[in-house]
Amino acid sequence: MRQHIAGQHIAGQHIADDAIRFDGVTKIYQAGAPAALADVSLTVAAGEVAAVMGPSGSGKSTLLNLVAGLDKPTSGTVTVAGLRIDTLGETALARFRARHVGIIFQFFNLLDDLTVADNVLLPAQLAGASRRLARARAEGLLEQLGIEEHRDDYPARLSGGQRQRVAIARALVNSPELLLADEPTGALDTATGQEIGRLLRELNAAGQTLVLVTHDPALAQRYAARTLQLVDGCLVPSNAAVPA
Ligand SMILES: Nc1ncnc2c1ncn2[C@@H]1O[C@H](COP(=O)(O)OP(=O)(O)O)[C@@H](O)[C@H]1O
Ligand SMILES: [Mg+2]
Repeated sequence: MRQHIAGQHIAGQHIADDAIRFDGVTKIYQAGAPAALADVSLTVAAGEVAAVMGPSGSGKSTLLNLVAGLDKPTSGTVTVAGLRIDTLGETALARFRARHVGIIFQFFNLLDDLTVADNVLLPAQLAGASRRLARARAEGLLEQLGIEEHRDDYPARLSGGQRQRVAIARALVNSPELLLADEPTGALDTATGQEIGRLLRELNAAGQTLVLVTHDPALAQRYAARTLQLVDGCLVPSNAAVPA
């Protein structure tokens, strides 16, 4: 089932600018287990902000991990930034991630033994960026996110909201065209979560594609132009009733 078609398709060949395209994607983690994603086809246009919602266990993180190339589909094809990533090897995938994708997680996933600045710089180092340019970019992001005074602190000293800001800066340091967020406000209080939502939106004004997994209907409604609903690994048509 195709949820949304943003690009143009001529004679079956995709020629326009989808940021993300799934064709018949199924993910089964263990033989005999139900599919975490079942025959999902979708496109997300470049620059679009799409929310992914659904009950716990419905396949939201699986979907995001497949977009990020952190995992591979059991069948089907995953195309991101014009690249078929389901067939890439580890080295090519690492390069793909460093160049094209920034990811933000619920529990921040910062490295505790690196300072804030070094956490933010890490993806730039992995991508082989110039140290001077990376430092300037990291410093700019820390300022934009209001955490520049914490540049030399370790993550353990920071609040949850501050840690998520560091994670956002880290996700953006390579200027990826695609930003993925998996429940980025899930571990934060409401006010802090709203702040993080606002920052994501501001940063998105630069025209990045953003896929936001969230449990929070208000967040989805406020920030996303479109919501993809997952139930039991299947996309629900956008006008269908969703079981509570
Ligand atoms: N690494 C894994 N190994 C085995 N099963 C997994 C793994 N990750 C997720 N699953 C299963 O796949 C289904 C979808 O999980 P997930 O994508 O994490 O859902 P959500 O993010 O919507 O809560 C669940 O049944 C979950 O238990
Ligand atoms: Mg999840």
